[in-house]
Amino acid sequence: MAKAQQIGIIGVPGSWGSIRCSFHSLIALLVAILLAGAVYFSRDSAGLLSEDRTTLRKLRDDDSLSQCNLFSGKWVFDNKSYPLYKEKECTFMSDQLACQKFGRTDLSYQQWRWQPHHCDLPRFNATALLERLRHKRLVFVGDSLNRGQWVSMVCLVETAIPPKLKSMHTNGSLITFKATLRLLVDPMKEYNASIEFYWAPLLVESNSDDPVVHRLPDRIVRAQSIEKHAKYWTDADILVFNSYLWWRRSNMKVLWGSFEESDGVIKEVEMLRSYEMAIKTWSDWLEFHINRSKTQLFFTSMSPTHERGEEWGESRDQNCYNETEQILKEGYWGNGSDPRMMRIVEAAIDELKTRGLNVQMINITQLTEYRKEGHPSIYRKQWDPLTEEQIAKPTSYADCIHWCLPGVPDVWNELLYAYILHYY
Ligand SMILES: *[C@@H]1O[C@H](CO)[C@@H](O)[C@H](O)[C@H]1NC(C)=O
Ligand SMILES: *[C@@H]1O[C@H](CO)[C@@H](O)[C@H](O)[C@H]1NC(C)=O
Ligand SMILES: *[C@@H]1O[C@H](CO)[C@@H](O)[C@H](O)[C@H]1NC(C)=O
Ligand SMILES: *[C@@H]1O[C@H](CO)[C@@H](O)[C@H](O)[C@H]1NC(C)=O
Ligand SMILES: *[C@@H]1O[C@H](CO)[C@@H](O)[C@H](O)[C@H]1NC(C)=O
Ligand SMILES: *[C@@H]1O[C@H](CO)[C@@H](O)[C@H](O)[C@H]1NC(C)=O
Ligand SMILES: *[C@@H]1O[C@H](CO)[C@@H](O)[C@H](O)[C@H]1NC(C)=O
Ligand SMILES: *[C@@H]1O[C@H](CO)[C@@H](O)[C@H](O)[C@H]1NC(C)=O
Repeated sequence: MAKAQQIGIIGVPGSWGSIRCSFHSLIALLVAILLAGAVYFSRDSAGLLSEDRTTLRKLRDDDSLSQCNLFSGKWVFDNKSYPLYKEKECTFMSDQLACQKFGRTDLSYQQWRWQPHHCDLPRFNATALLERLRHKRLVFVGDSLNRGQWVSMVCLVETAIPPKLKSMHTNGSLITFKATLRLLVDPMKEYNASIEFYWAPLLVESNSDDPVVHRLPDRIVRAQSIEKHAKYWTDADILVFNSYLWWRRSNMKVLWGSFEESDGVIKEVEMLRSYEMAIKTWSDWLEFHINRSKTQLFFTSMSPTHERGEEWGESRDQNCYNETEQILKEGYWGNGSDPRMMRIVEAAIDELKTRGLNVQMINITQLTEYRKEGHPSIYRKQWDPLTEEQIAKPTSYADCIHWCLPGVPDVWNELLYAYILHYY
């Protein structure tokens, strides 16, 4: 079994981390695959073998790819290929993200391609993804940023599906997009693909778990408890987590005990410590409940905000409002993105790896930092009517947290796609 374990580690997403393996380790991998024979080939039933083969062939043919860190690169204006879909044509677009619909007229934010320094991102192919997802569940778990990425993913694939064969269904914290395309030539080949979003902004249990009414002034997190959420997605085929923004405060109230009973103890805990507790709960759950030969795991890193113009050299009261250009300073990092939180997630992922479970970080933070012009700003649905003071001062209500679609999250999904299909 030792060999199988080794293969498990090599073959599962995550191992290609920054795809830095050398040609020699590829040879070693090929040899190991031959040695592991039976165990490895049993993965064929999951439909992965041919993809693994393709990946190996790609890597051998193009050694530069094996040196490639997809997250290090630059934005290139490309109005030929982008946007990848039209805002109006996406049936399930969210009014929180439909910037054009809400009056934005400068649209170049839709037309940027991410160009890694040492290789190209594979082109997003909705059909190829739907085939990979046949009879499977891809579930995004997290906060509204992850929900935005989920909406983007739905928009990216749904154009490949005729209207009657797609549906959206909400049940509590879980929203499910289903593609049921039945191919006339071969009904057995119907897609039956499910792309879902599960609301859990702090991953673990909290008093903000209601998918609609969750804006509570007093945030309480039950840092040791995740099963209430996890039971809905543990058996998914691909899981994409995130959790960051809801932790952005100096202290969190942590509950020992349950929300239902009054015998609990609540303590104020320094934020980083409470984040560490929650991430530990999350990773422990994965270690003991995830079927390693079935489920691909991803964690999307922090999505930066652009709320303080002084951070990129503008005036104090400027934020993303009225921004139409990117930040060009290479390596720019706003001080709202807390590297210590990223390190906590990294440490948990490293530890899981030693236990034979791979989680691939989708490292969007640096590349997204540059995109101060990609936020909805004032061009989104306002849930509450604006006051006169707000109207007089648009920066006061500009949304500098979420992202317009089509836009930046489409690129996050292209990165995810690359790992799901090409580098597995
Ligand atoms: C994320 O990517 C950036 C750019 O390549 C890099 O500087 C940073 O170290 C990466 N962080 C992690 C946690 O991988
Ligand atoms: C793309 O951008 C270039 C330069 O801004 C412009 O000349 C051209 O008309 C644009 N093409 C399309 C299809 O929008
Ligand atoms: C997209 O993927 C499908 C299925 O793998 C393939 O048949 C098709 O040729 C691909 N399209 C492009 C443009 O690569
Ligand atoms: C359809 O997909 C679901 C997973 O989303 C799976 O449980 C079910 O068995 C599939 N149906 C068929 C007919 O294969
Ligand atoms: C909603 O989810 C619950 C719990 O999984 C399930 O029992 C119920 O049947 C679902 N309802 C609908 C309408 O899908
Ligand atoms: C894990 O997943 C594989 C592939 O889907 C399946 O064959 C196997 O029965 C699963 N194992 C368990 C313990 O559920
Ligand atoms: C918005 O930007 C334009 C062009 O840079 C500038 O002329 C205008 O004064 C700005 N408006 C506000 C309210 O900052
Ligand atoms: C962010 O930067 C501003 C000024 O540039 C500073 O006042 C503030 O303390 C910084 N915040 C953090 C969390 O470092």
